[in-house]
Amino acid sequence: MLERLHPGIIALCIQITTLLLIASVIVSQPAIELSLFEWSLLQGLTAGLFSYALRMPVWWMPIHLGFIPLVVVALALNISSTACLVLFLGLLLIYGKTYKTQVPLYLSSNRVTQALQSLLPENSRFSFVDLGSGCGGLLSHLAEKNRNGVFHGIEAAPLPFLISKLRSLFGAKNCAITWGDFWHQDFSQYDVVYAYLSPIPMAALWEKASKEMRPGSLLISNTFVIPGVAADKSIKLDDFSNSTLYLWKI
Ligand SMILES: C[S@@+](CC[C@H](N)C(=O)[O-])C[C@H]1O[C@@H](n2cnc3c(N)ncnc32)[C@H](O)[C@@H]1O
Repeated sequence: MLERLHPGIIALCIQITTLLLIASVIVSQPAIELSLFEWSLLQGLTAGLFSYALRMPVWWMPIHLGFIPLVVVALALNISSTACLVLFLGLLLIYGKTYKTQVPLYLSSNRVTQALQSLLPENSRFSFVDLGSGCGGLLSHLAEKNRNGVFHGIEAAPLPFLISKLRSLFGAKNCAITWGDFWHQDFSQYDVVYAYLSPIPMAALWEKASKEMRPGSLLISNTFVIPGVAADKSIKLDDFSNSTLYLWKI
């Protein structure tokens, strides 16, 4: 039953339940004298335990632990409502679609860019797509160094798209960025498909890639494996997130 619910809904239920729980303790036990911040820490701890008990993915724990305590700190700092609104809108424009895609924004490291570059053909023409191209840093770098390639990025989040679009307008001419959903893109036109996503879409990605990609083309995933499909090659990189590139020759 819980597996069918979106994790965001489960997280919201945990936060509401634990807030109500802590509020009822505050009302029913006036003898316990804690500051608002200490109560918020207790709520965070309880929410973290609920998250663990409900077997939510491990990264939800720090989110539950820190959410209400950070709200309390932000209120104490008296940050202006305009600054909060700007911050909220900024986060919405970057992470708003994560609710649907379950793939947040984080960027490939320089080591990954270098490793990808070493895998690309040096002289022959080729096409490369970055599924969810973020702010376009990886693509603009590769396009600059590999003038024999045509690079395409598809990004769903408005703010990263805008940044990458501006970057591509002033950068190498062999790089194009599109705003949209890569699930609607036909993969058959690319020689190399690069994905740095999350564990959630990997099975569906393989289904689409194995249907659409041409024989001989290359699917590369940064960090996330495809369940049940062994990679033809993996390259471990010594960067801050211990990235591994997984390669499947179609
Ligand atoms: C982990 S980031 C990777 C960014 C960039 N590719 C890199 O390696 O630096 C994943 C990006 O994919 C985008 N994304 C997720 N699902 C998407 C979809 N269905 N269509 C387009 N972009 C998507 C997210 O908005 C996010 O910016």
